[in-house]
Amino acid sequence: MIDRPLRIGIAVLFSCALNTAGCGPQSGTVLDEAMRAGRTADSLPAADEDYFRDMDRGLSKDPRAVGAALPFLSEADAIAAFVKGRNNWIVWTGGNDRLWDYLANHSFGSLDFLKTLSSHPTQRAKRQNRWYELGLVNEPCFEQATGPNPDRYGLWLDRRIPTPECPPDPFENANRYPGVQIGARGKNIPVGSYYGEASGIVGLRLLPNPDFDQRAQARWDPVRFYEDPTYYQDRDLVRPYRVGMSCAFCHVGPSPINPPADYENPRWENLNSNPGAQYFWWDRIFFWDDRGRERKLPACRRGRSHSQPR
Ligand code: HEC
Repeated sequence: MIDRPLRIGIAVLFSCALNTAGCGPQSGTVLDEAMRAGRTADSLPAADEDYFRDMDRGLSKDPRAVGAALPFLSEADAIAAFVKGRNNWIVWTGGNDRLWDYLANHSFGSLDFLKTLSSHPTQRAKRQNRWYELGLVNEPCFEQATGPNPDRYGLWLDRRIPTPECPPDPFENANRYPGVQIGARGKNIPVGSYYGEASGIVGLRLLPNPDFDQRAQARWDPVRFYEDPTYYQDRDLVRPYRVGMSCAFCHVGPSPINPPADYENPRWENLNSNPGAQYFWWDRIFFWDDRGRERKLPACRRGRSHSQPR
């Protein structure tokens, strides 16, 4: 015997399936932000800088080897495709920052990637132990935040340290890769690049939040964001950045043949694009505040991608 509320629920879902009108917009008709801003795919070309050339055993430095692996292309086309493909794999987040931001506010406070990539003292995982605690790959060329960054809305974001070995991130270039101008972007906050900015974690990119208008900016309090649950658990909280996730977030890992001397501070040459994520700690990453929760779950449920002794 099915109880009455359940029967009504099933009937509503069934009628929605038969007649989509009246149950939200029809599938295939919802435009993403880029389309709403009038951007076509052609206006978002793939970046061609071979910034990650030290990765993957330096394969892209050997065009003949790349050409041999892709015999249906000319050597020049093969290397160009390889470079663009790897760039997209690592820095292109395709507008999913909107999804992750939505989930940050609608997942009962369990997920917040802007916290995951912060090195605030309240965070269990900071740059110094992010690999150990979360199995996430720290981005080379960064240094742990030691205080709130006034250029980053007071967030404790790790800082890029420029050296000859660490030139600027070419994907942040807003002239070459102009971001999608929508909402507050281009008004009180810069539009930036469509690849966003490097975050200090491989596979997470920072994009200016189109909802961060002047009102949200006036309400923004970075101290309470880290320290006051009544503030950071407010589902109407508007963060200055949305965090985008690329394929690399789960697919970049240490090179098995040239692993980092210090796993918390790898160099690009110590990283492989694939397969990665062997040490990805799913529940800690998707439940950044798992303090209470860890005690409740049996050890076998607190898994990583592949179980291993700790
Ligand atoms: C949130 C983590 C996550 C992200 C982000 C992610 N993947 Fe994966 N991917 C996985 C996991 C976990 C597996 C392994 C699944 C399995 O073996 O059952 C996988 C497997 C794969 C495989 C199969 C590999 C094989 O050897 O069979 C492909 C291909 C793949 N992913 C492509 C992508 C692409 C393309 C993207 C970005 C658009 C992406 N993944 C982003 C977690 C992720």
